[in-house]
Amino acid sequence: MRAAVVGATGEVGRMMTRVLEEQRVFPDELDLFASAKSAGAEVTFNGKKQTVKELTKKSMKAGYDYLLFSAGASVSREFAPLAAEAGSVVIDNSSAFRMDPAIPLVVPEINGSLLAGYRGIVANPNCSTIQMVLSLSNVHSRFGIRSIVVSTYQAVSGAGKNGMNELEDQMRGHIAPKKFVKQIHLNVVPQIGALLENGFTDEEMKMVNETRKIFSDPDISVWPTTVRVPVLYGHSEAILVETRRPCPLSEFSEAIEESESVMLVDDMITPLEAAGSDSVYVARVRAFDATRFLLWNVADNIRVGAATNAVRILKKHRELNA
Ligand SMILES: NC(=O)c1ccc[n+]([C@@H]2O[C@H](COP(=O)([O-])OP(=O)(O)OC[C@H]3O[C@@H](n4cnc5c(N)ncnc54)[C@H](OP(=O)(O)O)[C@@H]3O)[C@@H](O)[C@H]2O)c1
Repeated sequence: MRAAVVGATGEVGRMMTRVLEEQRVFPDELDLFASAKSAGAEVTFNGKKQTVKELTKKSMKAGYDYLLFSAGASVSREFAPLAAEAGSVVIDNSSAFRMDPAIPLVVPEINGSLLAGYRGIVANPNCSTIQMVLSLSNVHSRFGIRSIVVSTYQAVSGAGKNGMNELEDQMRGHIAPKKFVKQIHLNVVPQIGALLENGFTDEEMKMVNETRKIFSDPDISVWPTTVRVPVLYGHSEAILVETRRPCPLSEFSEAIEESESVMLVDDMITPLEAAGSDSVYVARVRAFDATRFLLWNVADNIRVGAATNAVRILKKHRELNA
C-alpha cells in the first residue's frame, strides 16, 4: 500500500501517523507533506525517520492508495481533487467537501457501508459532531431522535497548534487574542468560527447539517451552542436528546452502552481523563420523563474527532474493497 499524510506536521497530522502505528497500519511507502516552511522536518514512523516534503500539485498525481488530508479547507480544495483524479482515495479532515451530496461523510461505526465500491474523496466530519453521533446512533435507530440541544466545551487544540500556543502564551503573560475572538486563558468564549447571518456560528451549523447527513435524516433538529474553553485536549458536550418514541431510561442507557467505540461510565469523566483514548465517554445519563434525556459526553478531539476516525475510514475502506 502507498499512503501519504498532508499536513503531517500539524496537531491532527502528527496524530494520524501515531494512530496508523497503533492500529498496525504500515504502508509499504508513506509520504509526509506540509507547507514549504516545514519541508525537511523529520517525523518518526514505525521506528524510522521520515523527511517531510513540500506539498506540490505534481506530488498529488503520484496515485496513492490512500491520502489523509489535514491541512485546512483551502489546501484540500486545491489539492484533494487532483489526488482523487489520479485514482487515490482521499480521506479529508477539513470542512471543504462535507456537505457535497456526491461525497460520503463517514463515521465508520455508523455509515461505513457507504465506502463499499467507492473511490474518490471521503469526508471526515467535524470533531464535535463525531463524538455526539457516535454516542447517539443506537438511540436514533432504536427510538428515533426528534431533537438535540447541545452545548460544547471545546479544547484549544481544536484550533490547531496556533490555538494551543495562544493559550500557553496567555498563561505566561498578557497576549492579545488572535486565534480566538476573546482572551481564552481564565475565560470561556461562546463563539467558535465565524458568526453567520442567522446568529449561529459556522461551527454550530456544522453540527446541525452534518448530524442530519450522517444519520440520513433531514428532520432531526439540532440546537447547538459551541464554546471554547481553556482545556488543551478533549471536547465535552452537555446534550439534551428528545426521542420520537418513548423509552425507559434503562433502555436509553443500554443503547448507548451497546454503541461501538463508546463507553458508558458510572464515574465522573473529564477531558483530562479522556485525552489519549480512542473512545467516546458518556456519563450522567438522566431524565424526568420517557422522551427527554440528558447526558455528558467527552472525547479526545484530535483522536476520536479527527485522526482516529480518519484511520478507521482507511481500515474500513480496505476491508470492504479488498
Ligand atoms: N484540531 C482538531 O481537533 C481538528 C478536528 C477535526 C478537524 N480538524 C481539521 O484538520 C485540519 C488541520 O488541523 P490541525 O489542528 O492539525 O491544524 P495545525 O496544527 O495548524 O496543522 C496544520 C497542518 O497543515 C499544514 N499546512 C498548512 N498550510 C499548508 C499548505 N499551504 N500546504 C501544505 N500544508 C499546509 C501545516 O504545515 P506547516 O507545519 O508547514 O505549517 C500543518 O502540517 C483543519 O482542516 C482542521 O479544521 C482539526
